[in-house]
Amino acid sequence: MKPTDYAILSKRQLSENVYMMRIHAPYIAAERKPGQFILLSVDESYGERIPLTIADADVAEGSITIIFQKVGFTTTQLAAMEVGDHLAAVLGPLGQPTHVSKVGTVVCVGGGIGVAPMHPIAKAFKAAGNRLICILGARNKDLVILEDEIRAFADEVIVCTDDGSAGRKALVTAPLKEFCEQAPRPDLSIAIGPPIMMKFCAETVRPYGVPLIVSLNTIMVDGTGMCGGCRVTVGGETKFVCVDGPEFDGLKVDFDGMMKRLQAYRPQEQRMAAGGGD
Ligand code: FES
Repeated sequence: MKPTDYAILSKRQLSENVYMMRIHAPYIAAERKPGQFILLSVDESYGERIPLTIADADVAEGSITIIFQKVGFTTTQLAAMEVGDHLAAVLGPLGQPTHVSKVGTVVCVGGGIGVAPMHPIAKAFKAAGNRLICILGARNKDLVILEDEIRAFADEVIVCTDDGSAGRKALVTAPLKEFCEQAPRPDLSIAIGPPIMMKFCAETVRPYGVPLIVSLNTIMVDGTGMCGGCRVTVGGETKFVCVDGPEFDGLKVDFDGMMKRLQAYRPQEQRMAAGGGD
């Protein structure tokens, strides 16, 4: 197989609408570091590129693992593909790798599909010698992903569901606040999930002086810092998620502005999903 034959090697459904795929991409597998992502196009004719975190990589096999949720037009097309099918293009690894170091105690919060990008970052912080606490949030027990994989390396795992069908019936910010109130406080927190969840994680840790890293998943077009599609405001400055991120100081991100921009693309997405043009 040619290195640029982006064949799907395996496909597994993790929960309702969430899929894991291994893709043949030897160059990316060899280069990637935790925190980096790819831009993927399913088909050349429509050509929307979606950013997806590299959840794992196998250098010997020359494969990368992606995890995605079927939420819009392109991810629905992707979910319909099967082992042996080929993707039109995979660009990466993109973005800045996570700065992983030994800081002491690290609390990682993952919400919904955000647990997928959190997984390699949490694993890297554990490997660097930190005490690792992971808080996994989902609407209900069927939507909790990667719990067993994360329990295999984390020191403590807390599952929170909105309806209490698994773990605690609580928002992820409840245990996060409890850890912040304990002595010693966490040395670092990391939150990856819906923007509203990351915003509330920021407001939870801010009074305690616990640093927060967030990984942003915005609309992306070129992935090179040229188009401006992925811009966010961080500490009053415009940043591009594709080249400056995807990780930023969560206490400085303008989440309200980011959510407004994401909303702005909804009508096009809904038209495409309904089979209409753009
Ligand atoms: Fe175009 Fe980042 S995707 S600037």
